[in-house]
Amino acid sequence: MAVEVYISEDQIKNKVTELAYKINEDFAGQEIVVICVLNGAFMFCADLVRELTVPINMEFIKASSYGEGTNSSGSIKFEVDVKNNLAGKNVLIVEDIVDTGLTLTKIMEKLKAHNPAQMKLVSLLFKPSRNRHPVKIDYLGFEIPDKFVIGYGLDYSNRFRELPYIGIFDEDN
Ligand code: IMP
Repeated sequence: MAVEVYISEDQIKNKVTELAYKINEDFAGQEIVVICVLNGAFMFCADLVRELTVPINMEFIKASSYGEGTNSSGSIKFEVDVKNNLAGKNVLIVEDIVDTGLTLTKIMEKLKAHNPAQMKLVSLLFKPSRNRHPVKIDYLGFEIPDKFVIGYGLDYSNRFRELPYIGIFDEDN
């Protein structure tokens, strides 16, 4: 089992600053509800909100589509939901990775039912080759190939989330 550094700590830091700059510009003078998609986005979200200059409210949501291992089970279960109504609010969903897009599609359907004024999505990573459920990513960090990545919040069987970089996980080496 080996971990190869794929996106370094510095590259992530620069990207977070770049994304926050755009978000600050787009939402200047407005308040936003930031919805952190647990568990994977916790680190990205924590770094991102520290660079936001607009006033925010924090919410958390958790929808599980993955069990053990690297393959999606295809089913979604909500384990944590937002606590306040989002009607008329500016919502920013913060996700770690859009893979097939199933999780985000289900989350967005659920949040749209609140009738927010607008709903934007920021995702650190996107695997275009695996995408089956198209979602509009308003702010994207990096497009990546079809490799299983870990670190910076992302896990393999709940391990490696603490790594400060994003690595490619290779079970065989
Ligand atoms: P989707 O529903 O297929 O888009 O999967 C989204 C979720 O699957 C993400 O929020 C991650 O938790 C997980 N996931 C997808 N690809 C990876 C990966 O390469 N590494 C770690 N987790 C992943």
